[in-house]
Amino acid sequence: MYPPFQIRGRVALIVYSYLLAHYHDKLDDSVVCSFLALVQDRSQGKPIQFITGRQEFRGLELEVTPDVLIPRPETELIVEEALRCVSTKQPVLVDLGTGSGCIAVALAVELPQARIFAVDLSGPALEVAKKNASRHSLSGNIHFLKGDLLSPLQTFNLEEKIDCIVSNPPYVSENDFPKLQREVRQWEPKLALLAANNGLEIYSRLIPQARSYLKAGGYLVVEIGFNMRDEVCALLGPGWQLSRIREDLNRIPRVVVAQKL
Ligand SMILES: C[S@@+](CC[C@H](N)C(=O)[O-])C[C@H]1O[C@@H](n2cnc3c(N)ncnc32)[C@H](O)[C@@H]1O
Repeated sequence: MYPPFQIRGRVALIVYSYLLAHYHDKLDDSVVCSFLALVQDRSQGKPIQFITGRQEFRGLELEVTPDVLIPRPETELIVEEALRCVSTKQPVLVDLGTGSGCIAVALAVELPQARIFAVDLSGPALEVAKKNASRHSLSGNIHFLKGDLLSPLQTFNLEEKIDCIVSNPPYVSENDFPKLQREVRQWEPKLALLAANNGLEIYSRLIPQARSYLKAGGYLVVEIGFNMRDEVCALLGPGWQLSRIREDLNRIPRVVVAQKL
């Protein structure tokens, strides 16, 4: 009667006492079938977050679907760094490749006066991001725009007006893609993962675009993949000053912060 896995502490007590108290209850067949279908999904590699439809990011519960990348803990570093960069009372920020909206929503929570633009090439991802903003009563703080890189900003007259551009872009190369774990490779959107030019394609197009939209002294904060520090830093030309590089908990350089000169 005990489940075939180890659970300890208070949770174990609750589970075991529930099972003892309901030992003679008969489970409805439809409940058993739904549960077995979920177990089968998981056994085929479906990430638990796509089964529950939820993931936490900086203490915020977010909806996730297979249309978006599951927010990763290291991406919280982008939010920390962006918060260090903005000093004005009503900053303008852009989250490029917003996906689930995790970064934009977390920034809007911390900076209620900010004007935030969240851009993605994927319409279905933007729908998830909008729901997450609404779930946290932040729909009025974030403008969601569909398009390639910063091109959707053209109609907003924002050249040289943005304080900070943040991005966790796709950065997995074609070569590295087959080495990803099954949960990622088979279930998360390829548009969120893969980038041409050895994983550097988005950085190489974004950096010059970011320069035209940032104020002098504004910041670009980007997440980078394993071993990409030197290549991404080399893409920053003379118009930039490298401010810092943040390592993640595994001591891997993970976030590059650069200031427009
Ligand atoms: C690595 S995911 C990041 C999602 C989310 N910001 C996060 O950190 O969890 C990259 C996102 O960039 C979007 N994307 C890919 N290419 C793009 C492009 N050319 N322009 C705008 N968004 C793009 C993808 O659809 C995806 O949502």
